[in-house]
Amino acid sequence: LCFWIRKPAALTGLGWWLNVRRATPTRLQAFPALGSDVTEAEMGRFSLDAKRCFHGDARQMRYYVPPPAEGPSPGFDLRDGYRDRYVQRDDSVREGLDHLLQWIVENRKQLQTEDKGKLLNADFVTWRGHLTKVLTTPYESREGWLLAVTLFRGTLYISEFETEAARREREQRSEMLKELTYMGYKFEQYMCADTPDGIPDPTGVVNTNEAFCTVIRSRLGSHSLLFSGEVDCTDPRSPSPQPPSCYVELKTSKVMHSPAQRRSFYRHKIIKWWAQSFLPGVSRIVAGYRGPDGSVVGLETFETMKIFKLIRDDRGCWKPAVCMNFCAAFLAFLKTVVTEDNPKLVHLFAWNPGHPVSYTVHQDSQYRFLPDWYVEALSA
Ligand code: A3P
Ligand code: MG
Ligand code: MG
Repeated sequence: LCFWIRKPAALTGLGWWLNVRRATPTRLQAFPALGSDVTEAEMGRFSLDAKRCFHGDARQMRYYVPPPAEGPSPGFDLRDGYRDRYVQRDDSVREGLDHLLQWIVENRKQLQTEDKGKLLNADFVTWRGHLTKVLTTPYESREGWLLAVTLFRGTLYISEFETEAARREREQRSEMLKELTYMGYKFEQYMCADTPDGIPDPTGVVNTNEAFCTVIRSRLGSHSLLFSGEVDCTDPRSPSPQPPSCYVELKTSKVMHSPAQRRSFYRHKIIKWWAQSFLPGVSRIVAGYRGPDGSVVGLETFETMKIFKLIRDDRGCWKPAVCMNFCAAFLAFLKTVVTEDNPKLVHLFAWNPGHPVSYTVHQDSQYRFLPDWYVEALSA
């Protein structure tokens, strides 16, 4: 797979298009040594508390406590507490980039450059989750995306808007899916303690307002990125104690019984896990495998940088270099399209599986996402 950018003469109203197509070997050589083009450094941390309030510190950090390796299966019941100990974040509230922008305002001195035209020392500011979606676009066949982009004082800000299809899916989510979502969070509670020497407390409440976020500076090809992502926990006994490599991503997945199920997991699911953790440099992903009754029947640890070895012999599988090339090219494309520096101007990029990327331009509209308080704080 690869992409190219062209300007279709017949569709000038939509502007430039971006296509996802078959790879050429030359493209794949753009990133010869995997990882050598991406280097991550943690710039800061922030937390969102039980009421979703921002704090510029690591108070919501949790600590990885795996169950004993020997002995019976851990006996986690992922359904426990769904009815009576679950506080759910209101996911109809659009938060945009606000929490990250708040962190930037509080830390702007360490991000500023000498360059007059460019206030922050980054080409792009966004959430890690938005970049994950771009990275996996060449292999995505189900869900499209809408990404709003604004150029402000030399930096491109990317903020996702919910597609109509995603909104419908969210509003009509079945009880079974809601419980599955809960089970992902419940697994985190079984695997994490609140202090480095503590033990997990599965009798507590699962509150999805709470989050610990890392802010990462990184490069992808020629692009400098500043992004934030939620981190599940840190391993106080990690062989690589520096963040972000001491961070651990926790995941749940249905237990697999056959090689065909495992191949499908590698083809369709682990790509998302890889993209999510690869971007910020989270080095380990710990999977809890769910049995039909909601208990955890096994655990497996994946090293993020070794995931490519699991898939490289399957010719029909995804390739990390294709994802990275696509992402780098999409970011380059944004630089060529969004050139007017204006916090009220939004270029809205839309993509749906099987279609090219298109964009529309919106001046001072419902898509505006850089708040006045941010523009004023950075203009002062
Ligand atoms: P699982 O990942 O075990 O499924 P994250 O893994 O990113 O830390 O997210 C924690 C949990 O949030 C997930 O657990 C899942 O339950 C829920 N979650 C994350 N992204 C989601 C999405 N796009 N839709 C529904 N639930 C999601
Ligand atoms: Mg998480
Ligand atoms: Mg997780």
